[in-house]
Amino acid sequence: MKNRISHIIIIVLLTISVFVQGQSKVNPRAEWFTDARFGMFIHWGVYSGAEGIWKGEKLRDYNNYAEWIYYRNRIDREEYITLLERFDWESIDPEQWVVLAKKAGMKYVCITAKHHDGFALWDSEVSNYDVAEYTDPKRDIMKELSDACRKHDMKLGFYYSHWVDWEHPGAWDHTREIYGISAEEYDRYWQEKVLPQMQELLTGYGKIDMIWFDMWKHHSETCVTKEQLLQLKGLIRELQPQCLVNSRLGLSIEEDSDIDYKTMGDNQLGSKKEEFPWQSPATVAHSWGFHALEEQWKSTSTLLHSLIGNVSLNGNMMLNIGPRANGDVPYEIENRLLDMGQWLAVNGEAIYGCQAFDLVKDQHDWGRITSKVLPEGRTRLYLHLYNWPLNHQLPVTGIKDAPIRAYMLSDKQEADLAYDHKQVFTRIELPLLPSDPYVSVLVLEYDHYPEIEDGLVSESVYGGYALQLGNTILKEGKEEIIASSTQGWIPPHIKVDEKSSYTWRIFVEEPLSMNADVSYSYQGESGKGKISVSNGSNEIPQELKASGLFVGEPNRGLKTPDFQSNRIGSLEFPSAGIYEITLDIKPAKEEAMDFLWLWLER
Ligand code: GLC
Repeated sequence: MKNRISHIIIIVLLTISVFVQGQSKVNPRAEWFTDARFGMFIHWGVYSGAEGIWKGEKLRDYNNYAEWIYYRNRIDREEYITLLERFDWESIDPEQWVVLAKKAGMKYVCITAKHHDGFALWDSEVSNYDVAEYTDPKRDIMKELSDACRKHDMKLGFYYSHWVDWEHPGAWDHTREIYGISAEEYDRYWQEKVLPQMQELLTGYGKIDMIWFDMWKHHSETCVTKEQLLQLKGLIRELQPQCLVNSRLGLSIEEDSDIDYKTMGDNQLGSKKEEFPWQSPATVAHSWGFHALEEQWKSTSTLLHSLIGNVSLNGNMMLNIGPRANGDVPYEIENRLLDMGQWLAVNGEAIYGCQAFDLVKDQHDWGRITSKVLPEGRTRLYLHLYNWPLNHQLPVTGIKDAPIRAYMLSDKQEADLAYDHKQVFTRIELPLLPSDPYVSVLVLEYDHYPEIEDGLVSESVYGGYALQLGNTILKEGKEEIIASSTQGWIPPHIKVDEKSSYTWRIFVEEPLSMNADVSYSYQGESGKGKISVSNGSNEIPQELKASGLFVGEPNRGLKTPDFQSNRIGSLEFPSAGIYEITLDIKPAKEEAMDFLWLWLER
């Protein structure tokens, strides 16, 4: 028995130490990548000359990816290449892109060496469909960019479209779904173009830190075989053993742990913490290549939230620039990148080398948490405050240990902020004004890795507890969440047509009484169904009230079930501690009640 206990203790300690050291599934060669967290993607090529418009016609696709114009607008190969006449080679200087990446606080740069159009941006011996063929004196953008990266201490990546290639007659383009492709034909492209070009990229430009493939389907759904992919990966491992390979090679990281990181969908941000490295490729607007008619610019705050959100789940963000045919980076992009760089110059400690913390993603309504373990085991939690609470009080729920200090990261003096810690709850007194116009970062420092109390609903900055569908613990009955509809006037809810019971756990820091409000829609007769809210020490029952209908917009003939907040009554919490809040719903026969939320008001 003793033996078993010591075994268990050892396993627990091992698990903790693996965790404390950071993400557990990281290949050693990818450690720089999980530290870097932020990189630059560059989409630049022949298509940059079209700017999303061909002979007056806009790109033929609602998804306005300007780099797809050759394929989408069915452009003739010879005509396509004439777009290069619009390029201003004298002003094109890849070093400027690297300098911008540096100013933006990015740690790596990855450029479209060959995009789907098949055009190589380097001096390729394999094909004369390359930049050297069309420039005088000959240009080699990979050479210029790799020199600049070395000069500015920036990691370097090459994007290489291996699956799709609209230039080589034996390669894949989507019309092959109609006309077919033979394995021999495709392999000829593979042997003639992909492998030798990769060989060039891997041997001609010094150390390459990542090759970024772009097959957004698993190989089993494509004409590429697993053998071909392994051959390609083998070539990289042989020629550049430290070079990272992403999952868009066509092999998932879950099936092959030799893949160094998972690439999410385009502009897809993280939704949960992962132990393996991952990355979101993201745009500042929508298109990757420069698009003259671009309108969907994201704000600096949105971009910072995306970066912070990813890091808080162990992810990376690679943010794209689409320079024009004269090399210029659009002001809208440059401006946001410089803003992010300024933010990182102050708050970078909360991003670089940081990891997720154990609390769940949406635990707090004020923002996100990243963490860092310092050499002696001391730990810093970085609280990224998206909204600065109007009462200057920051509630942090779910951490059992008390911090040893609290301060704003931007404060060079690291002046102590007052705080109060009780059991699993810390309340911090914030300065009057936010320290940053975008996201202010507060540091909580602990003398060891802090332990958490899982599964608590946090106190809201709006003075209560939002007990919602996503954070409930179902005791019995209905749990399916029905998605929102009718322009969002019907919010996501649970259709409760049988006796159901939901529970949440909250921490209350002092004796108090709180009002309980339940939002629901009930189209039955008042007084037939029942509802009750309890906290273990007292219970308040109430009859269901008919909520009636609602009209969201005039003259559309839409009558929508109304969801209203119903005050159930007041609950007494006699002492500080963790409470289970239970909501019991007993609808009348055949009269469902649509449950939305329970709000406890302090
Ligand atoms: C998609 C597109 C491509 C773009 C890439 C960036 O795969 O085909 O144009 O380069 O996403 O993530």
